[in-house]
Amino acid sequence: MPVQAHTIVGRAVEREVVNTFIGSIERGPAIMVVEGESGIGKSVLWREGLEIARRRSFVVLDCRPIQAEAQLAFTALGDLLDAVPDDVFAGLPAPQRRALDVALLRAEPDGEELSHRAVAVGVVGALCALARTAPLVVGIDDEQWLDAASQRVLAFVLRRMREERIGVLVARRPDVGSGPWMRASWTGCCGHTSGRAWVDGRPHSSSAARGAIP
Ligand SMILES: Nc1ncnc2c1ncn2[C@@H]1O[C@H](COP(=O)(O)OP(=O)(O)OP(=O)(O)O)[C@@H](O)[C@H]1O
Ligand SMILES: [Mg+2]
Repeated sequence: MPVQAHTIVGRAVEREVVNTFIGSIERGPAIMVVEGESGIGKSVLWREGLEIARRRSFVVLDCRPIQAEAQLAFTALGDLLDAVPDDVFAGLPAPQRRALDVALLRAEPDGEELSHRAVAVGVVGALCALARTAPLVVGIDDEQWLDAASQRVLAFVLRRMREERIGVLVARRPDVGSGPWMRASWTGCCGHTSGRAWVDGRPHSSSAARGAIP
């Protein structure tokens, strides 16, 4: 019988890990990385994670970077923040809001060099404001194609997670890009030991979930 697009075959363990991970965001910051070779079903699990979060009325921000745009600064960040309501940005201090507006091409540059730190601090502020209204999931599929400017901002954000109900759900291929930034950034975050899963996918296996980010 043909498998329908929405039917997930197997993956019981991984799906349970994703489900548990999403639930853990209610208790504080969490990161999950689904890593594996092309075509093994990372995006299937990633999408299911976002759907679970939406069903629980979490806020979901997501992006799916592609190789052709990996050199374009702040592309992924722009996609991620696309669904953030204007009033969240309006609540940021003016220098952060202005830097974000310029980075996301909503405002003309004023001749000053763009402060990437102001952009990053603004993103922390915006995500924390959102997470006060409901648990927040930041979903990044194909993280290996994340542009460098967005990656630096997200690393900055991860290092500043404390008690916020913010979870980061990442799918990535292991052999491209610079995935270790996530481990390094997360290690710098204050001490939550729960809610960290590194899932090593194998096609339709039932027991590929493995341990925490070291
Ligand atoms: N457990 C599954 N049940 C049903 N279909 C699956 C499953 N895993 C993968 N597929 C199907 O296999 C194809 C590839 O899956 P998917 O796009 O999730 O792979 P991927 O690991 O994200 O690949 P890439 O690295 O290229 O992004 C899709 O058509 C998807 O629907
Ligand atoms: Mg994929």
